Amino acid sequence: MPRPDQMSLVAFLQASNVSVYSGSWRYPSATQDFGDLRYYQRIARVLEEGTFDLMFFDDRLAMPAIYGDSTDDAVRYGARPVKLDLTAVLGVCAAATERLGLGATYSTTYYPPFHVARTFATLDQLTRGRSAWNVVTSVNDAEARNFGQEIHLGHDERYDRAEEFVEVVAQLWDSWEDDAVVGDRDSGLFADPTKVHELHHHGRYFDVRGPLTVPRSPQGRPVLLQAGSSGRGRDFAARWAELIFTGDPSREVAAEHYRDQKERIAAAGRDPDDVRILPMAYTVVGETEAIAKEKEEILLSQLVHPMASLTLLSELLNHDFSGHDLDDPVTDELIAGVSGIRGLVEGVRRQVGDEPLTLRTLAAHRATLLQGPRFVGTGEQVAEQMADWFTAEACDGFVLAATHFPGSFEDVVRMAVPHLRRRRVFRSEYPGTTLRDTLGLPRPERLHV
Ligand SMILES: Cc1cc2nc3c(=O)[nH]c(=O)nc-3n(C[C@H](O)[C@H](O)[C@H](O)COP(=O)(O)O)c2cc1C
Repeated sequence: MPRPDQMSLVAFLQASNVSVYSGSWRYPSATQDFGDLRYYQRIARVLEEGTFDLMFFDDRLAMPAIYGDSTDDAVRYGARPVKLDLTAVLGVCAAATERLGLGATYSTTYYPPFHVARTFATLDQLTRGRSAWNVVTSVNDAEARNFGQEIHLGHDERYDRAEEFVEVVAQLWDSWEDDAVVGDRDSGLFADPTKVHELHHHGRYFDVRGPLTVPRSPQGRPVLLQAGSSGRGRDFAARWAELIFTGDPSREVAAEHYRDQKERIAAAGRDPDDVRILPMAYTVVGETEAIAKEKEEILLSQLVHPMASLTLLSELLNHDFSGHDLDDPVTDELIAGVSGIRGLVEGVRRQVGDEPLTLRTLAAHRATLLQGPRFVGTGEQVAEQMADWFTAEACDGFVLAATHFPGSFEDVVRMAVPHLRRRRVFRSEYPGTTLRDTLGLPRPERLHV
């Protein structure tokens, strides 16, 4: 299939007190209704009105607890102490929509494959083909300690386990042939047992007999999302992912990443045009340019407490920075002791250029809106910036992060989306019924199980 001439848009959500921007709960028009199902349903309806491809929720299986070996600062500053279970959240969003894709993160390090396969196959059945799974290997020791382990698995071992995990999940999804269910009341044949297959998988990490307790779902398999940025992560994504999320600060860096990832997909024997690559971006949309700039100023300067930033940096890098001063320089020596998300420090280094990098700057880049790109202006101006990245082949669309909930997505849908449509770089209606139809992705052939 050729590269689509229209972009994909994914809404990047958190079932939490905050968005990825950790000052979001303090924004004047933000609400604190994260425990109310109507809050998620309202956002879902707005996104469907904006013909978004997908609403996607990230996840983390622990409060930030690496800084000072304590959760106190996360709780005190609202640095993402809340994370609701996503199965329930996606269920209520499914009930409020008809076409919008529904995606969630599940960890290959802390959940078993049968559980994950069943969760997403069920959601795909209930929504007639709108589910997507974001495959993550998780990030830090705080998560390990909620699952009976002292430390998080090493980087490569996490990916080894993830490879076997996804293979098992794909086989479980394919364990029923498409026409296995007969449902013949007269003969009493419910399903053909020669078309429902046991796996008898015995691997390094998992032993799974199968089959899955859910028939093959409308999309064949739920759509696979992935966001690894290391070499190993990119190769894993090349082999499996259908939507890839990236975090690149500029159009040039994103274009280079795009080329590299597409080459890896071809090298893995897949068609690069069957995979969409979407950088994360923030939008700040205003009724006038001056209003947008003023909103941006509030977001940048007033809302994120430096301690909240440092708490979140500690958890992302899996390193306790409590022994350091905020103005300490980020040296190679310091970074050598860090595990967690690789590539984060390098990305920020590239963005700040020759300026000396301090912990304060590094932390702020991650917890505030400084981690680019940020598209600011009227709806028309924001649409122009987004179209520019898309037509320059720096991406196939965006995963849009919210500066605050629920208003961020309302601003994009009401003010920027009409201009994207006018430029014909974004759809006006859904082309079909499933998420694969929306994304223009093929229904996968069944693996031989
Ligand atoms: C848009 C986006 C969403 C992500 N969502 C999650 C998430 O929900 N949970 C998580 O543990 N990591 C998440 N990540 C991090 C990646 O999954 C991955 O762990 C990280 O990029 C490090 O990968 P690497 O070890 O291959 O460099 C996300 C990254 C991006 C860019």
